Amino acid sequence: MLDVTDRHCRYFLRLLAPGVRLYTEMITAQAVVRGDREKLLAFDAAEHPVAVQLAGRDPAQLAQAALIAADFGYDEVNLNVGCPSQRVQDGGFGVCLMLEPEVVARCVAAMRAVVAVPVTVKVRTGIDQHDDYEFFSRFVAIVAEAGCTTFIVHARKAVSKGLSPRANMTVPPLRHEFVYRLREERPELRVILNGGVRSIEAIEAHLLRVDGVMLGRKAAEDPYFLTEVQQRFFAGTTSAVPPGRAEIVRRMSAYAQHELGRGTRLREVTRHMLGLYRGVPGARRWRRLLSELPCAEGASADLLLRSTDFFRGSEVTALSDTVQSGRSGYLREIDTERGRDKQQREKEGARTQGKTGRQGGPLRAL
Ligand SMILES: Cc1cc2nc3c(=O)[nH]c(=O)nc-3n(C[C@H](O)[C@H](O)[C@H](O)COP(=O)(O)O)c2cc1C
Repeated sequence: MLDVTDRHCRYFLRLLAPGVRLYTEMITAQAVVRGDREKLLAFDAAEHPVAVQLAGRDPAQLAQAALIAADFGYDEVNLNVGCPSQRVQDGGFGVCLMLEPEVVARCVAAMRAVVAVPVTVKVRTGIDQHDDYEFFSRFVAIVAEAGCTTFIVHARKAVSKGLSPRANMTVPPLRHEFVYRLREERPELRVILNGGVRSIEAIEAHLLRVDGVMLGRKAAEDPYFLTEVQQRFFAGTTSAVPPGRAEIVRRMSAYAQHELGRGTRLREVTRHMLGLYRGVPGARRWRRLLSELPCAEGASADLLLRSTDFFRGSEVTALSDTVQSGRSGYLREIDTERGRDKQQREKEGARTQGKTGRQGGPLRAL
């Protein structure tokens, strides 16, 4: 996902779900061939299995880019035939390639000829008035003929004019039935369903009809959900108890420390973590603290680590000490928020104590 699944994001998601396959942002073949390859393609070994997603329409250039990506160690090369942005349309690639399946077939064949890893295609169910099942299945048939055996289907058509890329993610209705039908008619293909999947129950239901499910926004907005995915679908390859959120922050802090040493800014790492506590009382304030953290004077990975103190019921002496020394407005902020929460807890405690006999406010949920 553009501006989302960069290498920092993928490292973070990998901590949450060791079993899932991760995808890079869409990268144009031209950028890979002519640009800063290290910056565009480098990734951490922990990210495996990881696929690179390429965009383009020139078979020779795509083949060159695929070869470069395969040399970097990617486990799959995926071709984007779903992006409706104007810039991408102007380049004649992305979703408008659905109108030119023969070109896509040539691109797939050229890439397959030079790499040993699977070459897959991510496509939509149609474009503009070409939104019937026959159009979609004809596209797949022509591309499959070139040797593509895995299709990831964003199960809605794209509207090429008058709808923003964001609206193209919600306005055209979902057509999951197209994906199921493709799987039924072409059992020799691996068909992965994408679009609007937001719960374990939905994944389970889809998996009865298709070979796999791809999550987009749910994973980005509520990343801790991936621990549930890991527990439910990759049980054999994982420990019985998922890592807690604070443990994830601890590991990301170590990662951030390492990255800061390489010149990465703290914000580049923390921006992917903002949804980690989603659904947990106090999440909104933690999110705010985390977004302000990189601006704090002398921001270090250690501050990231200590941001989870915000969720502890007990006094946080380390933070208070630093606040007293007046070193950081950010720390003062945490302390103020924590103080506010303490007051809130005390109020709630007083309210609930009579009823339950237990102490503790909403932040004890962790
Ligand atoms: C911010 C954002 C960036 C995206 N970037 C890409 C991309 O680079 N390549 C791609 O194939 N799809 C991209 N998509 C589309 C998603 O991969 C996915 O197909 C779409 O969001 C529907 O799935 P979902 O309902 O699970 O989010 C992007 C979506 C969003 C919201």
